Amino acid sequence: MQSTSLAALLCALAHTLATEDCQDAESAGFSFLQAHVVTTSRGSEGEAQHHWASGRGNFPEYAVAKHPAPFNLAETFAWEWHHPLGRFATLTYGTAIDAESNIYLSAADGVRKFDQHGKMLWEYPSLPAEVMNAPSLYNGLLYGSDTHGHVFALDMQTGNLMWKTRVAENIGQDNGFNMVRAGIALAACDWRKPSPNGEANQRIQALNASTGDELWMFKPDTPVWNFLPLFVGDNDFVFQDMSGKVYRINLSTGALLWKAGGRNGTWTDGGSAVGPNNVVYAVNNNHPMPQASTSEYSPGTLSAYNLTDGQLLWSITTPRPPNNAPAVGRVKNLEGLSVVMPLCQQVHIGATCDVHVYDAETGGLRWIFHGPTQTGLLQAGDMEGAPGRLMRGVRWACLPNGWSAPTIDAEGTVFVGNEEGNFYALKDTDGNGVIWGKDEVAAFDTKASFSGSSSPAVAPGLLAVASCDSLFVFKH
Ligand SMILES: *[C@@H]1O[C@H](CO)[C@@H](O)[C@H](O)[C@H]1NC(C)=O
Ligand SMILES: *[C@@H]1O[C@H](CO)[C@@H](O)[C@H](O)[C@H]1NC(C)=O
Ligand SMILES: *[C@@H]1O[C@H](CO)[C@@H](O)[C@H](O)[C@H]1NC(C)=O
Ligand SMILES: *[C@@H]1O[C@H](CO)[C@@H](O)[C@H](O)[C@H]1NC(C)=O
Repeated sequence: MQSTSLAALLCALAHTLATEDCQDAESAGFSFLQAHVVTTSRGSEGEAQHHWASGRGNFPEYAVAKHPAPFNLAETFAWEWHHPLGRFATLTYGTAIDAESNIYLSAADGVRKFDQHGKMLWEYPSLPAEVMNAPSLYNGLLYGSDTHGHVFALDMQTGNLMWKTRVAENIGQDNGFNMVRAGIALAACDWRKPSPNGEANQRIQALNASTGDELWMFKPDTPVWNFLPLFVGDNDFVFQDMSGKVYRINLSTGALLWKAGGRNGTWTDGGSAVGPNNVVYAVNNNHPMPQASTSEYSPGTLSAYNLTDGQLLWSITTPRPPNNAPAVGRVKNLEGLSVVMPLCQQVHIGATCDVHVYDAETGGLRWIFHGPTQTGLLQAGDMEGAPGRLMRGVRWACLPNGWSAPTIDAEGTVFVGNEEGNFYALKDTDGNGVIWGKDEVAAFDTKASFSGSSSPAVAPGLLAVASCDSLFVFKH
């Protein structure tokens, strides 16, 4: 979700979002803070039986699929779901897939479970509260948050509510991720000012995953946006705030292990990623809002930190805003690990969006996919969806990141959705460093943009992704 100058104007009209409290980040500089050194353990726990257990996939290699996904999207498209009252009766957000290849979908009006053939198995209605985050599956329960300040758990089999805890008056309508591990559920909450971009989630709340009891809370230096915590060991996790500062936190106590980087006073709806090389990647914009959103070429920064101690390893300037989380993994025909970084100034007529792929060890540029240019005043599906959404009483527009979060499949193909509606499969088949032609670029037009909680989910023979109004499933 986004609030650029245009979006903020439209949003303010609709009383959904305001943009103020912008600070001058120029003087703040690049801060580097470091607490004590932590040893790294990346052991596994046993909740990995689900094919895509969270919106961002499975611990420890988030955003990387164990299976190949279909490349020829047009030929392998199997089914889609949108609300029976019409495409714009709800907004669809995040997906998870269980061990039996059932698909769970979060949406503005609740959560739904489908079997792999598209039959709806249950639905959990949430209105007037909206479920905006991607859900997680853990020990037979599905975890979510809603805008009325609740974190909740549903029985995966029945959809019955098992517990619901009000952790704050409000939780932001931005699109984050509910993540669970070691019996602890994490959620961002406490949506209010101040922040570099109006109201935002001020704290991280940990809950007992089986009872919903509140455990500890952590308040980052700057609020979070599209909160995406990633577990990095048996007992800790990393995340970044909206200024790009990274935190490593003890999961059982909420104690800070280290924090590093970021640019105070700035906003991104990007997130962090962790590689099997024990490096954390984080993004920030270089200029404060609303200045940062006035040009498609407003630069940002991609930084790499040592997971053990938060030491900065390298950072590079991105030529467009790094407004989503990268994926780190093995990309087809490239040596070692790569960072797949979607770049885009969203909700900006005439702005082109790119995907850059960098060398994970050095930050060196490896290839660029030049994506489409935003042709309308708003992103695909938003203008035509506004009347229907206002009538139904859900958020009037999606206004999301320019790209979904990217996923890398087992063959090194990159899957990512663009704000102009195309869902892409990208691979450098001939290894020439250029992504071009039908053997390298496959696209499927969903006719809508993709929320920040949208991250292509992969199971054996199956690929699922939600645009801002429909769920699309591909099979091979
Ligand atoms: C959660 O609550 C259960 C039941 O009270 C308890 O046994 C368990 O230790 C708690 N877990 C955590 C992480 O606090
Ligand atoms: C996290 O806190 C627990 C409880 O105090 C402690 O046993 C554990 O060593 C801590 N882990 C790290 C990585 O600091
Ligand atoms: C960030 O900037 C704000 C306002 O300029 C200032 O009050 C705050 O102390 C800064 N925070 C850090 C961690 O530097
Ligand atoms: C990270 O830091 C640890 C200890 O401080 C060191 O052993 C390790 O080599 C560093 N990793 C990288 C990728 O620099």
